[in-house]
Amino acid sequence: MWGGRFSASPNALMQAINVSISFDKRLAAQDIAGSQAHAAMLAKTGVISSGDAAEIQRGLSEIAAEMEAGTFPFRDEFEDIHMNVEARLRELIGPVAGRLHTARSRNDQVALDFRLWVREACDRSAAQLEALQGALIAKAEAHADTLMPGFTHLQPAQPVTFGHHLMAYVEMFGRDASRFRDARARMNECPLGAAALAGSPFPIDREMTARALGFDRPTANSLDSVSARDFALEGLSAASIAATHLSRLAEEIVIWMTPQFGFIKLSDAFTTGSSIMPQKKNPDAAELIRAKVGRILGSLTSLTVVMKGLPLAYSKDMQEDKVPTFEAFDALELSLLAMTGMVADLEPNVERMAAAAGAGFSTATDLADWLVRELDLPFRDAHHVTGAAVKRAEQLGVDLSDLPLAELQALNQGIGEDVFKVLTPAASSASRVSYGGTAPDQVRSQIKRWKDTLR
Ligand code: ARG
Repeated sequence: MWGGRFSASPNALMQAINVSISFDKRLAAQDIAGSQAHAAMLAKTGVISSGDAAEIQRGLSEIAAEMEAGTFPFRDEFEDIHMNVEARLRELIGPVAGRLHTARSRNDQVALDFRLWVREACDRSAAQLEALQGALIAKAEAHADTLMPGFTHLQPAQPVTFGHHLMAYVEMFGRDASRFRDARARMNECPLGAAALAGSPFPIDREMTARALGFDRPTANSLDSVSARDFALEGLSAASIAATHLSRLAEEIVIWMTPQFGFIKLSDAFTTGSSIMPQKKNPDAAELIRAKVGRILGSLTSLTVVMKGLPLAYSKDMQEDKVPTFEAFDALELSLLAMTGMVADLEPNVERMAAAAGAGFSTATDLADWLVRELDLPFRDAHHVTGAAVKRAEQLGVDLSDLPLAELQALNQGIGEDVFKVLTPAASSASRVSYGGTAPDQVRSQIKRWKDTLR
């Protein structure tokens, strides 16, 4: 492509470090779309003739068909996707192919292709997050009344419902989806027409190409257009946060699956066996999702370090933007799909969860609240009396609700039989009717709100 200035071919190592076609072939569809829009604009503005533009479009369609059929010849000697497409175009339509690169550089070309790719990846991620929310909501609806222990410090804290717990993730994944949508809105400006770095002397119409490629407007500064990769950083940071949420849910699935907890079952479809221990059923998919955040956050770190300290405008360092970004979105996408499948697949052991919900004196706060409400104790005093009741129950080896009334009355004379009504996990959870609380009716109204939002 630059034979005019060069008389010798590159050293094999030069080619080895420079070549990017093995990975940037994933930008093929975006590269062709960008070229189609560019060629149409060049014809419309009279920069090239409409006859030449028609030839170019015909060649590009043929290339698109070759890509589709898997017959396109990707060749290392043409370095990257942009030059592979252009070289093939020349083979298909002859020297007129050389007119396509008028008023364009690989710098704005790659900035465009990559932005289009990241934009699509963000759209896909948001849609997959919404599908995962759908699976969680369906499960939450079936289990809006299913009691389980709520934890802090992974110690039993207060009874909640399984539906409530699942809906907590619906909130997280909802914010994750909206982060992708926000990032998309900011990145939706078209860099094509910035050319190498300074803009173009040709009478190009950047509004036209921007519109044709689904952008809101062209980017406003040519130097920034070819230098910016913060759209990818933003996509990767949204991906990292989503992966963090996925890893938390994955970890809970791993814990819930242990025989010690025994809260849920996964079918054979989402577990694996052991080659030596016949009894095993392992939650490998959950473990791998828990681990993928390493790769995804690693990609964000990797690209951030590539970009830091780079002078304007384009530097070849920026070719290193693609692998981490592709890898992160591949990992996220697979994690989202696997998690969606796993959530639909998992079945809680309702009896076991309910039994655990009452263990560990989980209704102690309800006793304290009852003392405040019924006997008008200051909360601190109620907390003290309840602590003593828990201590006594522990000594006797019983749950709070099985403590003889006389034992409670020894701590406070005013306590009557009706206190036992608030000491069951079901009563405890049903009482938490504050907005966003765990009472089944609250959970159901959050489920309804989300269903309306996602519809
Ligand atoms: N393959 C290159 C990349 O991914 C395309 C841009 C090359 N531009 C240049 N001035 N060498 O960044």
